[in-house]
Amino acid sequence: MVLFSQFLFVVLWKCCIAEINTEVAMIGDVVQSMQRPTAIVATVCWSPVKKNQFLRFRSEEDEGDDRISMVQFIDPETVPEINEHEQFLLFLVDMSCNNISRYFERSSSKNHFRTPFRWLLVVDSTVENDENNVPNVIAHIDALPDSEIVVATEMGNNTYILSCIYRVGPSTEWLAEPYGAWKPETRLQIDKAIHTQSLALRRLNLARYPISICYVLTNNDSYNHLTDRINDHIDTITKGNFLTTNFLLDFMNATQSWSFTNSWGYKVNGSWSGMTGYLERNQVEIGGSPMFFTSERAAIVDYVASPTPTRSKFVFQQPKL
Ligand SMILES: *[C@@H]1O[C@H](CO)[C@@H](O)[C@H](O)[C@H]1NC(C)=O
Ligand SMILES: *[C@@H]1O[C@H](CO)[C@@H](O)[C@H](O)[C@H]1NC(C)=O
Ligand SMILES: *[C@@H]1O[C@H](CO)[C@@H](O)[C@H](O)[C@H]1NC(C)=O
Ligand SMILES: *[C@@H]1O[C@H](CO)[C@@H](O)[C@H](O)[C@H]1NC(C)=O
Ligand SMILES: *[C@@H]1O[C@H](CO)[C@@H](O)[C@H](O)[C@H]1NC(C)=O
Repeated sequence: MVLFSQFLFVVLWKCCIAEINTEVAMIGDVVQSMQRPTAIVATVCWSPVKKNQFLRFRSEEDEGDDRISMVQFIDPETVPEINEHEQFLLFLVDMSCNNISRYFERSSSKNHFRTPFRWLLVVDSTVENDENNVPNVIAHIDALPDSEIVVATEMGNNTYILSCIYRVGPSTEWLAEPYGAWKPETRLQIDKAIHTQSLALRRLNLARYPISICYVLTNNDSYNHLTDRINDHIDTITKGNFLTTNFLLDFMNATQSWSFTNSWGYKVNGSWSGMTGYLERNQVEIGGSPMFFTSERAAIVDYVASPTPTRSKFVFQQPKL
């Protein structure tokens, strides 16, 4: 009996490999093309045979190259908790699964559409989508320029067209970058720009989208002298950074949207004041004035580079002779 079931398995394996292999091979090729170690979290409605094929396939393809380190199959009701190795994770989704929209909503609320996660969405002819190949079920998801979502759309004849989709801001129109095409004869033909330019450079043009920045001014008159160098010993650090951040917005073709406050922000009775409050309430995207790193703020603020060296000094008055 045991022998018989093994025999059956081998027969099944042989019979179906030629038939389904294209999708499995396509997924393997796309993951390889990302040139990063990858752990796959797969939400697919595949038969056990196809799942098995996928596991077998990638271990054969990866001979001597452990780019795909793990594959985990989950059902659409489960959105995984991720605490480590986020940079390796790729969410693979078969868009023809039933009731997949709730899975995307919960993933979105857990920020899984942000960096460093990656997505590969496999779309067949049963899935409704728009002219950019954006499937309708994710049309309302905010996948901003830091997201990395590859959509593989089946065009018939085992041919796939691949594109990378994102939107500049919440509810703005979807944009698509060509990623490549996959055919059984040629395998993956990747678009040149995908390899030669990083994601940040490809998505530099924010099409005049307003980026809101909060600055700290301790003196009311500083507002009138942000760029003219009058009283540049007052609120120096903000006046210096005001220029830098405006260059940044020009560089990204974004429009300026400024807020001003008179403090860096402290936690008072459970709510944050000042600039930290603006950041915590998501009223602004960037804190424009450099701010000291405190453990309390670090819990809610992401610090980037320090634009101004800061140090403490004791100053002694020279004794009178
Ligand atoms: C899928 O959605 C349909 C209606 O939208 C519902 O009746 C069905 O129970 C759902 N299935 C699952 C597994 O949640
Ligand atoms: C599939 O390929 C055949 C032959 O190459 C072609 O005649 C047919 O139009 C193709 N079908 C689609 C849907 O691309
Ligand atoms: C900035 O965005 C606007 C609106 O999309 C566009 O017309 C303009 O060409 C862009 N400028 C640059 C330098 O890309
Ligand atoms: C600065 O302006 C605020 C409100 O506009 C006002 O309450 C405050 O008294 C002013 N401070 C000074 C020093 O003028
Ligand atoms: C904090 O809350 C207490 C009690 O509600 C109140 O008496 C106090 O004035 C509040 N402090 C500030 C700075 O709002």
